[in-house]
Amino acid sequence: MSDTGTQAPRPAGRAERAGEERAGEDGRAPAVELEGVSKHYDGGLIKALDGLSLRVERGESAAVTGPSGCGKSTMLHLIAALDRPTSGVIRVGGLDLARERDLPGYRRQHIGLVFQLHNLLPQLSAIQNIEVAMFGTGLTPRQRRRRARDLLADVGLGGLQTRPPTKLSGGERQRVAIARALANEPELLLADEPTGSLDERSVRLVLDMFARLRAERPGMTMIIVTHDLRVADTADRIIWLRDGRTDDSPG
Ligand SMILES: Nc1ncnc2c1ncn2[C@@H]1O[C@H](COP(=O)(O)OP(=O)(O)OP(=O)(O)O)[C@@H](O)[C@H]1O
Ligand SMILES: [Mg+2]
Repeated sequence: MSDTGTQAPRPAGRAERAGEERAGEDGRAPAVELEGVSKHYDGGLIKALDGLSLRVERGESAAVTGPSGCGKSTMLHLIAALDRPTSGVIRVGGLDLARERDLPGYRRQHIGLVFQLHNLLPQLSAIQNIEVAMFGTGLTPRQRRRRARDLLADVGLGGLQTRPPTKLSGGERQRVAIARALANEPELLLADEPTGSLDERSVRLVLDMFARLRAERPGMTMIIVTHDLRVADTADRIIWLRDGRTDDSPG
């Protein structure tokens, strides 16, 4: 399905070591593969996803767009294993999520998540919000602090470490959220309308960050849900959804 050409090499993931992968043309499992994925609510009255199949290659950046209610957030939540599909198969780096028992561990190890409304903890400072993402990874508090400091500096917020999110602008919060999502060097960055609540200037800053991430981390796969064509334009490919499936003839 994808035609993105070159893929940056990545170290073998857990699923590959376990021999569970379904290899792609280059002999490696794709970053994300959905096969006939449905998510139904109310006994099938609501079909948030309805037989969605797609594939995103390693190192690819895909924008996902489509009308409100077409299933974009549902799709991201399922890929992040925050929820289970009603039917269908989801593989991330070759790992069948239905077989994964340690879902928090899976998320911590493989996934960076950026939500539309940043979901930062208001009682913690910017730097603490990033540190908590590294709990359970085996890093010492000192190592977590150093890494969080570096990440904040990376997103241009080195001077705002001790500020709580309530005292940051929308764009600054979103950049903290992106720094948090990168804390564990995820193979897969999932972002749901990362610029949805931002003003022009902040949108520009977040776009610049995505462009930099693409350049600096070519092996990381990105799936970005967006209504904003400027954001979509930063991606290798746009995936259109309609009524819970891919839409091959948008517009
Ligand atoms: N927990 C739920 N219970 C019932 N219906 C739900 C639930 N979550 C989502 N839906 C429905 O599933 C459909 C898809 O929702 P989803 O949030 O994935 O859409 P979306 O494409 O992200 O929309 P938007 O662009 O507005 O964010 C919608 O019709 C929504 O009302
Ligand atoms: Mg949504």
